[in-house]
Amino acid sequence: MTSKKFKKNILCIGAGYVGGPTMTIIANKCPDYKVTVVDISKERIDAWNSDKLPIFEPGLLERVLSVRGKNLFFSTEIDLGINEADIIFVSVNTPTKMFGEGAGKAVDLQFIEQTARRIKNNSKTNKIVVEKSTLPVRAAEALATILHSGDNSVEFEILSNPEFMAEGTGVSDMENPDRILIGSRDTVSGLAARDILMDIYLHWVPKERLITTNLWSSELSKLVANAVLAQRISSINTIASLCEATEADVTEVSRAIGMDSRIGSKFLNAGPGFGGSCFRKDILNLVYLCEYYQLNEVAAFWEQVVSINDYQMERYVKRILQAMFNTLVGKKMAVFGFAFKPDTGDTRDAPAIYICKRLLEEKACLKITDPYALDNARNDLQSIEGKKEFIEDPYKAVEGVHAIALITEWSSYKKLDYRKIFEKMEKPAFIFDGRNCLDHQALYKIGFNVYPVGKPELSHL
Ligand code: UDX
Ligand code: UDX
Repeated sequence: MTSKKFKKNILCIGAGYVGGPTMTIIANKCPDYKVTVVDISKERIDAWNSDKLPIFEPGLLERVLSVRGKNLFFSTEIDLGINEADIIFVSVNTPTKMFGEGAGKAVDLQFIEQTARRIKNNSKTNKIVVEKSTLPVRAAEALATILHSGDNSVEFEILSNPEFMAEGTGVSDMENPDRILIGSRDTVSGLAARDILMDIYLHWVPKERLITTNLWSSELSKLVANAVLAQRISSINTIASLCEATEADVTEVSRAIGMDSRIGSKFLNAGPGFGGSCFRKDILNLVYLCEYYQLNEVAAFWEQVVSINDYQMERYVKRILQAMFNTLVGKKMAVFGFAFKPDTGDTRDAPAIYICKRLLEEKACLKITDPYALDNARNDLQSIEGKKEFIEDPYKAVEGVHAIALITEWSSYKKLDYRKIFEKMEKPAFIFDGRNCLDHQALYKIGFNVYPVGKPELSHL
């Protein structure tokens, strides 16, 4: 099937946050492979073919421009793409199921199943199908059953190759990964397929960073990696509440424990709660899996990571309420940052969604600012009643406000002129630094009442 110019044809179904960047890096690193990314959304594909990519990720546009039209193609011709492909990555979204059995926890597999049927119906030659989407353990089995059903004589070998890149640092995470995980069947054809996938990564990843496992270990490792990362955040967030109640400082505690090489320093920043498309979804998926196998204590343990996250978001709101004399009615508040983390416009499951909803419920008037996420913010809050404005310039957003709620630690917020900001605000002026990213002493000296996370407030009141 592959044209003479290329060693193999790679297809990726799903041009989202995972599929688009992953394939861009593969195309950059493997000029000998033809990489095509397809999607059911024409709008998304058109955006990938333009200079305004559908997602913002530092360094991505340059990399797309250097290979697009050479060995990287974006298209809506899914069936044609399937037919031509030797290796198919499945990167469609796998949201939490919101109906029926497992509602609120299990993964909604409808897009995966539809994709599997489409692959089966359009394949005339043998193919390797790679799960890139995060899937429940043993999903490969279901995928294989669908692909091999009926009278199709084509052989499909399924591999699991979960993506560990984090948004905002996606390009560097993929160019210099801690590890690449490949799960396969322990059969001759399974191991042969695994080697074909390894050949792709070996173009730029040192061999010792390629880990191979069985299919189920690979699928489970993805869920567990996210669950453990999220668990660290929930752990430090519980300590933040203890620090606020005492004289301890959570940043100092994080530093002190993080220097223990057995613990390590990453993912110990207290904040308003974790967000993003993966953490909550993957933990709930793990919980569902444990419940399915009647491991109820294990399920309860992991579910607590999510409960603490909900508690942390609510605690942030309560601290605002209490500090501002237990009423927000009619008060204006600037919200600094809506994306679930800096350097992305992504707002999926962002703590800002929950926090803004709650502030609007308390009848605060919100002036929301974010360098890249305002369109998503508008959509997320569309159906929520209350006074809200979306303002690009943070200096305009703070005009006449009583308080600033900083939810996302964009580096630009650290460089703002807070004296100028203070002058534009109502007094007493409050700042709730949900990410502990500002200079609290300096703000206090300007006249702000400063409420960090996990440390005593600095108040003039
Ligand atoms: C990814 C993973 O695939 C998911 O499992 C993981 O847990 C989160 O990250 P992501 O790339 O972030 O998903 O999802 P999204 O940005 O929504 O992209 C998925 C794309 O697949 C969309 O563009 C959608 O249009 C496309 N799609 C969906 C198809 O092309 N076919 C379908 O049948 C369904
Ligand atoms: C995560 C995983 O890190 C990545 O490996 C996986 O492939 C996808 O899910 P992502 O959700 O993009 O990546 O971002 P991440 O950097 O993990 O941050 C997730 C959330 O945790 C953000 O809301 C972030 O603000 C929060 N966080 C992170 C903290 O609150 N404290 C920390 O110390 C670190």
